[in-house]
Amino acid sequence: MIKIKSAVEIDKIRKSCEIVAETLKLLKKHIQPGVTTIELDKIAYDFIIKKGAIPAFLGYRGYPATICVAINEVVVHGIPDNRKLKEGDIIGIDVGAKFNGYYGDAAITVGVGEISKNAKILIDVTKTALYRGIEKCIKGNHLSDISHAIQTTAEENGFDVVREFVGHGIGTELHEDPQILNYGPPKRGPILESGMVFAIEPMVNQGTHEVEVFDDKWTVVTKDRKLSAHFEHTVAITENGPLILTQKEI
Ligand code: MF3
Ligand code: CO
Repeated sequence: MIKIKSAVEIDKIRKSCEIVAETLKLLKKHIQPGVTTIELDKIAYDFIIKKGAIPAFLGYRGYPATICVAINEVVVHGIPDNRKLKEGDIIGIDVGAKFNGYYGDAAITVGVGEISKNAKILIDVTKTALYRGIEKCIKGNHLSDISHAIQTTAEENGFDVVREFVGHGIGTELHEDPQILNYGPPKRGPILESGMVFAIEPMVNQGTHEVEVFDDKWTVVTKDRKLSAHFEHTVAITENGPLILTQKEI
């Protein structure tokens, strides 16, 4: 069942989303060669707590950190550790926060220093795929219109979308109905209504869409170890079209 949120609820979700967006903005400033992902995690934790919010991922199904990091061939859900970022890496950072009972969720992928042209293209296409999906968040559309827009954007550019992980509804829970696939035919699934709030999160691979999960049960990597990028926004469907709630950052 997809929950319809009132304007008051959307405003509460917006507050947590603003904290998430500000956290990502702050982290972006610290992304440079030599910084460790555990340092980034601490910056995010301290900031979210300072804002009076709760890190949404910490303790979620046993997840041990505030942020998820995804360096190069890592797709999503990498656990921060002592590894230092180096020039030419790309890093995905996923942040969630809960404030006044409502969740916000967003992710970005950025380069560390100078990155290859191909890495840049992958990042740009993934971000564009997210925005093409968001453009379909219009009442009267079908849910899978979002999925289809994401898949076609990625594939037209020679990339492949990950199948195993999906976007989701969000509100008083981090993960609510519906699951939002990043691929599929258009005009399927529920009709979109104003008051629905979605976390849309395409994961796009340079090579095959196939992925593997490490023994830590979290870290997802591409099967061929080629690069992967991930972007996510929390978006409300309104009478006036899509409203990106995690806007401040990407
Ligand atoms: N943005 C991701 C998601 O919504 C991050 C979840 S990480 C977890 O699924 F640790 F909370 F699982
Ligand atoms: Co999410």
